[in-house]
Amino acid sequence: MSLPGETLFSEAELQERISALGKQITEHYRDEELTVVGLMNGSLFFMVDLIRHLPYQTQMECWRVSSYQGKESTGSLQGLDAIHGDYSGRHVLIVDDILDTSLTLSKVTEKLLSLNALSVESCVLLSKQRERAVNLTPKWAGFEIEDLFVIGYGLDLDHKYRPLPMIRVLKD
Ligand code: XMP
Repeated sequence: MSLPGETLFSEAELQERISALGKQITEHYRDEELTVVGLMNGSLFFMVDLIRHLPYQTQMECWRVSSYQGKESTGSLQGLDAIHGDYSGRHVLIVDDILDTSLTLSKVTEKLLSLNALSVESCVLLSKQRERAVNLTPKWAGFEIEDLFVIGYGLDLDHKYRPLPMIRVLKD
């Protein structure tokens, strides 16, 4: 049975890093208006904490997409067909919990470009060190981690463990 194991990042470490990311993102966009697209459900906590460090004009959307089942990537991204909205001429920042194979970020980036977004960048809280399906580097990453399955702070195993305030390794 899989259970929460070692803590990788405490609540305080997460908040300190998110505050620093918020400053860098604010500095990058300066006077440009920004739309943040948070990928649900995993990035919910991260997006809410990050956006509080961004300018008040920042707009926010949530896209519900998923590529994972249990502890494995399915190799395809569900949910993009349901996405509509006006992103034309907008600077868009995709916010996701974790970069793994890069399938999610590459497909969501493609979708935003097809909706005529002016620019598309991404910010992930965690980036797994592993081979990617697509060569994609997010502009901002909170922490690099080994290729481990992690939970907490929005990250789940079959919808459990999201409320943990810290990031922990899932141990078998
Ligand atoms: P890809 O492979 O598309 O994966 O880059 C990104 C999405 O996969 C999920 N994911 C995880 N979820 N613990 C989780 O709770 C993990 O270790 C993990 N690795 C990938 C997540 O939904 C992310 O958006």
